[in-house]
Amino acid sequence: MRFENHVFICTNQKAEGKACCGEVAGMALVEKFREIIAEKGLKGKVRAQRSGCLDACQNGPALVIYPEGTYYGKVQIEDVERIVEEHILQNKVLEDLELKF
Ligand code: FES
Repeated sequence: MRFENHVFICTNQKAEGKACCGEVAGMALVEKFREIIAEKGLKGKVRAQRSGCLDACQNGPALVIYPEGTYYGKVQIEDVERIVEEHILQNKVLEDLELKF
């Protein structure tokens, strides 16, 4: 496997009035993940990138982390460091943000 963790962050923008994660919110999260990944020396091991709709539109901004396949919803900028620190580095699911289907 190329990366130990791969974070896909939805940046899907739907028409006005439809529930979606949104490009602005999604891209802000992508940038924050990249910043924290670099800060923690994880570049090359962990990759964060934009994605299309993850079918969690009512809970956006949403993301999924592989290989676990853990979905997180209503993710805010201030949650990113905690996701990297706890989920990626300590292998702990953040139950307050986890989406269960
Ligand atoms: S628009 Fe982000 S999950 Fe559907």
